[in-house]
Amino acid sequence: MNYEEYLRRVPKVELHCHFEGTVRPQTFADLANKHGVELPTQDADKLYDYDSIYEFLKIFAMVSSTLRDQEDFARAAFESIEDGVKLGNLKYREMFFNPTLHTGRGIPYKTVVDGLVDGAREAERELGVKCRLIADVYRQDAPEVAREMVEQVLEHRPEEVIGLGMDGAEAPDPPEKFVEAYRLAKKGGLRLTAHACEDAPAKNVATCLDVLGVERIDHGYHVLGDPELVKRTRDEGITYTVCPTATAVCYFDADDLTKHPIRQMVDEGLTIMINSDDPPMFHTDIGREYVGMVQAAEWGPDRVREFVMNGIDGSWASDDEKRQMRQEFERELDELDAQLER
Ligand code: ADE
Ligand code: ZN
Repeated sequence: MNYEEYLRRVPKVELHCHFEGTVRPQTFADLANKHGVELPTQDADKLYDYDSIYEFLKIFAMVSSTLRDQEDFARAAFESIEDGVKLGNLKYREMFFNPTLHTGRGIPYKTVVDGLVDGAREAERELGVKCRLIADVYRQDAPEVAREMVEQVLEHRPEEVIGLGMDGAEAPDPPEKFVEAYRLAKKGGLRLTAHACEDAPAKNVATCLDVLGVERIDHGYHVLGDPELVKRTRDEGITYTVCPTATAVCYFDADDLTKHPIRQMVDEGLTIMINSDDPPMFHTDIGREYVGMVQAAEWGPDRVREFVMNGIDGSWASDDEKRQMRQEFERELDELDAQLER
């Protein structure tokens, strides 16, 4: 087996993947058709073309606007997990969704979350993959909107919903804006994470850890600008959920992952694990993210094993689930290692 095939077949955990960003172009087109949403082109895939987070977020909102009925959410959630399994041997996922992108246009929160749970449970039955959910604050919302969203999440809470996160454009809306939403979520027993240092200075990582109380950092690249904070998060073993292609397209060099700051994060000893972010919207998938980033950085199988184990350790699965995943992953990785051409 060559290394590319090996990397695709490595068992994977994903902790940074946005439901709305995983909708297949065909499903986007079907749902637009179903609900009479006019798209600027019939070829939905053609809309997935941007080079800034702002342009991307416009299309992300357009995809979201085609999701209306509980069945739409269920279908897209199932397909999203199925793609992870088929294209990258996904075993476990904690997936973001943006409640206010839906409730803000009149879709009841219950419709959204019940649909996602339907899709996740079907995927667990058919594919054996567990997918939990993290409600994301949308940074461009007002603080009160985010706090009300957390109230809704806590009021109607299927067991799959385990956490609060934060996404959207980072530079104009710093994390401290949402301290109240995070306080409420913590009080309600949700686990906490946030996008930080995607395109804003290192201090956002410190704010997320010290003011919001997050346990993980989603992205984190610009932490490299503060050596003290690099040391601190290395010593504390904070998990960084990094996404090669999406950020290369929006912020770094889209054509050259060899220059991606993820490489330096690894050289600095930070705990990273690899994710797909919004896979079809950046013409990628979780298998391809491993293939592209690992080969660009010339990391060997031992490093890859470290990253997938970081995914298990950094997840919010129970201790029992983690133990089982570690055993299963070790066994699959040993088998793959034995078949790898060196
Ligand atoms: N929403 C979906 N993907 C995102 C990302 N990578 N950064 C910020 N907001 C997002
Ligand atoms: Zn993201």
